[in-house]
Amino acid sequence: MRFIKISEHPAKDASVQSDALEMLLGCHVRIRHFMQLGRTLAHAEFAPSGEIAETAEAISCYFSKALPLHEADENETLFPRLQAAVAEGNLVREAAETMVEQHKAIDELVADLLSLCDSLSQHPEALPSLARRIEDVTFALDKIFDAHLKLEETVIFPAILEVLTSEQLEEMSDEMRERRHPTGNKIHLVN
Ligand SMILES: [Fe+2]
Ligand SMILES: [Fe+2]
Repeated sequence: MRFIKISEHPAKDASVQSDALEMLLGCHVRIRHFMQLGRTLAHAEFAPSGEIAETAEAISCYFSKALPLHEADENETLFPRLQAAVAEGNLVREAAETMVEQHKAIDELVADLLSLCDSLSQHPEALPSLARRIEDVTFALDKIFDAHLKLEETVIFPAILEVLTSEQLEEMSDEMRERRHPTGNKIHLVN
C-alpha cells in the first residue's frame, strides 16, 4: 500500500484538481463530525430533551441526505472513471472495488443509526433505553468508517491525480455539483 500526501502532488491544474478532491475530502470532514456527534449522543442522557432531539435530527438529516450524495459521487462519478483508467488486478482498481463494497456495509449500519435517531428525535426521553444500541451502532460504524476513509484518502484519492486527466476532474466536480443542485430544477424565466 502506498501512502501519498495529496498536498505533495504536483498539480497540473491546481484549481480543477483541488476542486474535485476538496469536495470529496470536505465530505469526509463532515462524516467524521457527525460520527463524533453520534458518539456524544449515546452518552447524553442528562442533556435537555430539546438538545437530544435536535442532535438526533441533525445526525439523521446528514446520514439520510448528505451521505448518499457522497457515496453516489464515489460509486457513480469516481469509480467508473478509475475502472476505465486502471487495469484489472491493479492495487488502485482493487481498492476502488473494495470502496464500493464497503458502501453497502456502511449503508446497512447507517439504516440502524437512522432508525434510532428518528425515534429519538420524536421521543428524546427514550435515550436511556436506546443509549446502548446507539453506542453499539456508532462503534461498528466508526470501525468501518475508519478503514474506509483511510483507504480512500491514502490509496484512491491520491491515484485520482495520477490517472485521471484535468478534464475528467472537471467533469467530476461538475457532476458532483449537479447531483446537489440539479440545473433541470431551475426555473428559466427567459427563453
Ligand atoms: Fe466512500
Ligand atoms: Fe468517501
